[in-house]
Amino acid sequence: MTTDRRNRAWYGKLDKDGFIHRSWMKNQGFPDHVFDGRPVIGICNTWSELTPCNHGLRTLAEGVKRGVWEAGGFPVEFPVMSLGETQMKPTAMLFRNLLAMDVEESIRAYGMDGVVLLGGCDKTTPGQLMGAASVDLPSIVVSAGPMLNGKYRGQDIGSGTDVWKFSEAVRAGEMTLADFMNAEAGMSRSAGVCMTMGTASTMASLVEAMGMSLPLNAALPAVDARRMALAHLTGKRIVEMVEEDLRPSAILTKPAFENAILANAAVGGSTNAVMHLLALAGRAGVDLTLKDFEIGGEIPLLVNCMPSGKYLMEDFAYAGGMPVVLSELRDHLRPATTVLGKDIAAYTEGAECFNRDVIHAYDAPVKPAAGLRVLRGSLAPDGAIVKPSAATDALLEHEGPAFVFENIEDMKANIDRDDLPITPDTILVLKGCGPKGYPGMPEVGNMPIPAKLVREGVRDMIRVSDARMSGTAYGTVILHVAPEAQAGGPLALVKTGDRIRVSAREGVLDLLVDATELAARRAAWQPDPPHYTRGYAKLYIDHVLQADRGADLDFLVGKDTRPVTRESH
Ligand code: FES
Ligand code: MG
Repeated sequence: MTTDRRNRAWYGKLDKDGFIHRSWMKNQGFPDHVFDGRPVIGICNTWSELTPCNHGLRTLAEGVKRGVWEAGGFPVEFPVMSLGETQMKPTAMLFRNLLAMDVEESIRAYGMDGVVLLGGCDKTTPGQLMGAASVDLPSIVVSAGPMLNGKYRGQDIGSGTDVWKFSEAVRAGEMTLADFMNAEAGMSRSAGVCMTMGTASTMASLVEAMGMSLPLNAALPAVDARRMALAHLTGKRIVEMVEEDLRPSAILTKPAFENAILANAAVGGSTNAVMHLLALAGRAGVDLTLKDFEIGGEIPLLVNCMPSGKYLMEDFAYAGGMPVVLSELRDHLRPATTVLGKDIAAYTEGAECFNRDVIHAYDAPVKPAAGLRVLRGSLAPDGAIVKPSAATDALLEHEGPAFVFENIEDMKANIDRDDLPITPDTILVLKGCGPKGYPGMPEVGNMPIPAKLVREGVRDMIRVSDARMSGTAYGTVILHVAPEAQAGGPLALVKTGDRIRVSAREGVLDLLVDATELAARRAAWQPDPPHYTRGYAKLYIDHVLQADRGADLDFLVGKDTRPVTRESH
């Protein structure tokens, strides 16, 4: 038995401290021999009834434990803050970094040798990975898995995506409120995360592409028995990873992030992946910038899932899941180590596609050149992004007049007024929704189309903001404008009637106002008073980095892998 394992500094001591660490654990019925130096595996669980997407994780934790015991480890499950995307106000994103702190400090403070991260709902996966990367003990992910396909009146409906569609249909008078409310239970009818390629399934797919989970982790439905088997196998594997000393720092390398960017384009993944990959790279010490996302630009859309396509995650799983996507990308993937201790190419062994309408071949894609586009210019000196696969092609090259909403309340109060001077050519601009401004950078960038235009049949317009949007959303929506308005970015200076030029092809987002005029506006500009003056939210506002750095807190960038030497008593 290895004696230098990390847990020996807790459970291997023959003094008062060792007595304290062991004795209190024994109140759970653990016999002497489990403290013999075997790998102690933390199971970091974001289960919560307030995070409905993650409520299946309690069961999956039991699957992980079976595998850990079988491999000769000692599993210990612990809770961390859970972030329910659909339940938290003002936005779960405000708390992603708090979860990451909880995960990091829990792993570090307890006597574990490795950790299994059980996440699912949007912010839980990146929050857990960020925390784990900053401690750098052997770590592996098991995702909650997607819900079964939504069903309504015999049709498949997708989480989020069809909420936005139904809500526009009600506003256009094409759907009754009673029908709208009837769709709720059919949309979310099993355990699991959004079954569109929203942020949760995107992050699970990228976790697999980065080699931080076993193959097939992304798509198997939450309630499919094979996910329980995957949890069991993951429990076995983490024990081996501890024995091999295989840490995130060996896996989360620049090539792994590049593979995630390529995969994000191929699956039509969420714009939120940009924020989370940038923040995670900061933790891992990998030099990743917005510019690196351009390598995804020419990658075609292969996965025909909502919001960019028509199918759902259940279909993606039955078609073969991520191993098929990675196999289609084989000529582009960078060599990178995975949790298997083998190159990512190992994930494609035996991959077979069972439905080519769901996962297209590389040379017969759903759409060509589907990756996110990074835009820059006088309106976004530090960048902005747009997702062409979910946008209207004609609007990706456009110049038009701005109509400005100063904040979310202004937008909600006025967007449906019939007297607004807005045409389909207008570019809707929303301020005050960035990391500091809202705070927490909520998913409000896909503003509703003004009611009077909806009635005329308009379903898309250019929208520009410092906000994010849901991974399940669609439209020609320019997001993550940096610096944000509240930080004094040029976005703060835009006025209704200013002309704005967008070119996704050239990567341009320009405010066509002359420098003298802008200087005069800047001299008169003042930030809004902060919305919070105490607690975590104040810490967040004071320390949050801008979107181009993934909105991590400045003091959390990087890692601390030193042993904790001081005892508690
Ligand atoms: Fe939790 Fe979509 S809201 S995964
Ligand atoms: Mg979301």
